[in-house]
Amino acid sequence: MLLALIAIGVSVFFTNIHLPSPAGRVDARTVAQTAPFDTPGVTEVEPGQYEAVIRAYQFGFLGFDYDSETQTSSITVPVGSEVTFKVVSTDVVHGFMILDTTINAMVIPGQITEVSFIFDEPGEHLVLCHEYCGTQHHVMYAKVVVV
Ligand code: CUA
Repeated sequence: MLLALIAIGVSVFFTNIHLPSPAGRVDARTVAQTAPFDTPGVTEVEPGQYEAVIRAYQFGFLGFDYDSETQTSSITVPVGSEVTFKVVSTDVVHGFMILDTTINAMVIPGQITEVSFIFDEPGEHLVLCHEYCGTQHHVMYAKVVVV
């Protein structure tokens, strides 16, 4: 037990490993009218650096582009892009996980979840809500396409 506590202490204080913490607070009831979350979507903030403002809701992610033909929401970024996702919930607790990346976070009403990743290989990444959030939880997914 003591060794486990020492190991946790060392990882927190000396190797800078830490749990994701909220990047800010918002009022979940008004966040849909609060900048930048009133206009979800992806913008290039600097060459190669993108900011994706996402609103998680029952049951989907606003901010990805919806294609009615494939019924899939996705964003497309060039190889080598660093994308910072700022995610909020307008209702219940959701998850925000992007497969084959280090992104795996909870989206808690009232908090801003901020996570980043550099997409340095072409391909597709599935974005999943991995917290059970209601009857249509299983349809809550999107894609990041790296070209
Ligand atoms: Cu949102 Cu499960």
